[in-house]
Amino acid sequence: MQIIIEKMLESHLLEIKDILISDFDNFWSYSILQSELKNENSTLIIAKIENEIVGFAGIWRAIDDIHITNIVTKISKRHIGIGSKLLEELINISKDEHATSLTLEVNENNKNAIKLYEKYNFKKIGIRKNYYGQNENAIIMTLFFLT
Ligand SMILES: CC(C)(COP(=O)(O)OP(=O)(O)OC[C@H]1O[C@@H](n2cnc3c(N)ncnc32)[C@H](O)[C@@H]1OP(=O)(O)O)[C@@H](O)C(=O)NCCC(=O)NCCS
Repeated sequence: MQIIIEKMLESHLLEIKDILISDFDNFWSYSILQSELKNENSTLIIAKIENEIVGFAGIWRAIDDIHITNIVTKISKRHIGIGSKLLEELINISKDEHATSLTLEVNENNKNAIKLYEKYNFKKIGIRKNYYGQNENAIIMTLFFLT
């Protein structure tokens, strides 16, 4: 089973538009993804298995830091390596762009995502209190690149 990573195009977005809620946890809305596609500071990528879109992820560039805006695997395809593949690609893009770090916020209760980031050496560097609502804190995690 080969996981292929590609840049997201408008046509890919249209392909997953109607299943964003049911199959991708409603993680990001169609309109947000559409505007991110047009934003020159953003890059969105998709993961495909045999022509089926099984995940997507995005980054947003600040000055030296690149921020992961989103990473999500299709619910029926989790824990088979797709999130890792997407994250590896985001790390490679960040290195190619000479970023000093790659940062994200993750819900402190999202154990699977935290494990994924720890697997790639992201470190917990802070907390944003009530970021996701009352008593739902975000952990800020960063991967520092040696320059
Ligand atoms: C977090 C998420 C993207 C991981 O994607 P995935 O395709 O399942 O990831 P992988 O299969 O590459 O797994 C990577 C690592 O994550 C951890 N992990 C993922 N799913 C897990 C599970 N069900 N149980 C335990 N660990 C899990 C493991 O450490 C795993 O590494 P391993 O296979 O060596 O054990 C996926 O669970 C998801 O889409 N969640 C909803 C969206 C989300 O929370 N995104 C993160 C926002 S910050």
